[in-house]
Amino acid sequence: MNDAFGSVRSVLVLGGGSDIGLATAQRLVQRGARRVILAARKPDDLADAAASLRASGASSVETTAFDADAFQTHPAFLEQVFSGPGDIDAVVLAFGVLSDQVRAEADAHYTLDILRTNFLGAVSVLLPLADRMAAQGHGCIVVLSSVAGERGRRSNYVYGSSKAGLDVFCQGLGDRLAPLGVQVLVVRPGFVRSKMTKGLKAAPFAVSPEEVAGVIVAGMASGAPVGWAPPRVRWVMSALRHLPRPLFRRLEI
Ligand SMILES: NC(=O)c1ccc[n+]([C@@H]2O[C@H](COP(=O)([O-])OP(=O)(O)OC[C@H]3O[C@@H](n4cnc5c(N)ncnc54)[C@H](OP(=O)(O)O)[C@@H]3O)[C@@H](O)[C@H]2O)c1
Repeated sequence: MNDAFGSVRSVLVLGGGSDIGLATAQRLVQRGARRVILAARKPDDLADAAASLRASGASSVETTAFDADAFQTHPAFLEQVFSGPGDIDAVVLAFGVLSDQVRAEADAHYTLDILRTNFLGAVSVLLPLADRMAAQGHGCIVVLSSVAGERGRRSNYVYGSSKAGLDVFCQGLGDRLAPLGVQVLVVRPGFVRSKMTKGLKAAPFAVSPEEVAGVIVAGMASGAPVGWAPPRVRWVMSALRHLPRPLFRRLEI
């Protein structure tokens, strides 16, 4: 339950090993959150992350199994999480997979796996989650979209399309839930130096997971529907979005 000042007291991270998800949980704990639930495919691997959150001040850190691809398990997973003590004030949907575009173009099964996790898995858990949050009448769902969803680019349109689908779904979900007291915050990071991008050449305006967490916490506090990390990628993407296609095709992006 949010405290008397509206601060988040409890947070659920879907994709609990995500660098961005963990940085956000850390930031929320530093600001007063006391209960954290890390939900991941391999919850036993999260002992160090849980210890770090406890050291930062969390009084309860639970780790539990969650697989975005196992759609049929999502309602029971949420039943288990929401039957715990108190409400869930914030949910961070942080799971996702980056695709190898060259492999994706040659392997439809691989491409469908990317779409399955990033879009279908998210929708599968978001629909019953939305009902739970609406029943509470408060809270925030943070969804990690990407600038890659802003405009299809030849270098990453498989990943980009999975994020575009997720982004549009969550814009509508946010409109549905706002009158019921629930915020949906869609966050569109550019390049983030995390496990996901390890070994890749950093793109311009690259940020750390902690900087994304800062954008998330600020967006939660202000009630914003959308956040950009760093904020200036909003203007870069706006320019790219409006570039005529013949010019856009000449860009090596
Ligand atoms: N890094 C970037 O440049 C960037 C930019 C824009 C948006 N994003 C988005 O931000 C989110 C967080 O990314 P990150 O940078 O924090 O990367 P990360 O550290 O690699 O985290 C991604 C997490 O997703 C989990 N995951 C993958 N498939 C899953 C599944 N089927 N079920 C449950 N969990 C699953 C992974 O868990 P395992 O340990 O089990 O593999 C991993 O913990 C992702 O949605 C990503 O697409 C990232």
